Amino acid sequence: MKRIGLLTSGGDAPGMNAAIRAVVLTAAQYQLEVIGFRHGYNGIFARDYQLLQAADVRQIARFGGTVLKSARCKALQQPDGPATAAAILHELAVDALLVIGGDGSFRGCMALSHHYRGQLVGLPGTIDNDLDGTDYTIGFATALQTALEAIDKIRDTADAFERTFLIEVMGRHTGYLALSAGIASAAEQIICPEYGEQIDLTDIAADIRYYQQQNGAGSYIIVMAETMYPAGAQALAQELSDLSGTECRAVVLGHLQRGGSPVGSDRILATKLGAFAVEQLVGGHAHLMMAGEQAGQAVLFPLALTGEQHKKTDPYLLDWQNRTLQQHC
Ligand code: F6P
Repeated sequence: MKRIGLLTSGGDAPGMNAAIRAVVLTAAQYQLEVIGFRHGYNGIFARDYQLLQAADVRQIARFGGTVLKSARCKALQQPDGPATAAAILHELAVDALLVIGGDGSFRGCMALSHHYRGQLVGLPGTIDNDLDGTDYTIGFATALQTALEAIDKIRDTADAFERTFLIEVMGRHTGYLALSAGIASAAEQIICPEYGEQIDLTDIAADIRYYQQQNGAGSYIIVMAETMYPAGAQALAQELSDLSGTECRAVVLGHLQRGGSPVGSDRILATKLGAFAVEQLVGGHAHLMMAGEQAGQAVLFPLALTGEQHKKTDPYLLDWQNRTLQQHC
């Protein structure tokens, strides 16, 4: 093996740059060349790539975003997309392709695998922490910290005005980010798919009133996972204001959670998994695998199984929050 292709794909996640750095520095130890495709899989179709050398990546670990840019790729989803991409990879003599991304990006790898002769390896990069096969994904810890800092600030103004706030966090189809941000910010209420797909507005409104009777008027924070209320957080806040008779405001944290300098644990995870992925590639063990971390150990996990959604949010904390704060009605 002589040449590795590298790309970042899907929603960018803080720590992707640290992973790029680790891949390039580790590959250099084995005299492997790394070319980075820009804008996700689109860079393959456009033959838009750059040689990545140690000097290019030495100082990038502290930056959010991704120096390779990211995107979702329509061309790969066309019927002839995977075959075309594979042909270009063969033409460019890419012996292995390393994809940093989430489940959509890994589905891209699986589609490519029917045509591409090289090794295909995934690195889990998404703030959602929704991939099976790794305890944490690169970017989750930073997104949690960012959400927490924002919620703490909202708590200040909520306290001052004795208001209820509904704060929507990202996470796509799972409540990992919502549960974690809700627990860590001492939210009175968490709305996430793990508590069921239906939201009982009457119950929540009753809980707000109960809370205020017990504690005097005060702040009441609800952290909600995106996708839980199709009409949107603003509409839900209005519903809750009407039902509870208190003032409820909505804040959607949105893409704020994807940015910022990665926290230490994301840089460390990204470095470990980037280095491990290259070493496994060199050993020939990594084809169609994702490099993840389980109980502190770097592991390989089949790419095809990463999107099965068996990963559970912490059942102990889910139950504790429900018993202690949410079940008054
Ligand atoms: O998968 C990462 C993520 O940030 C999700 O949390 C969110 O649902 C989605 O991407 C947003 O995608 P886009 O940036 O395309 O709006």
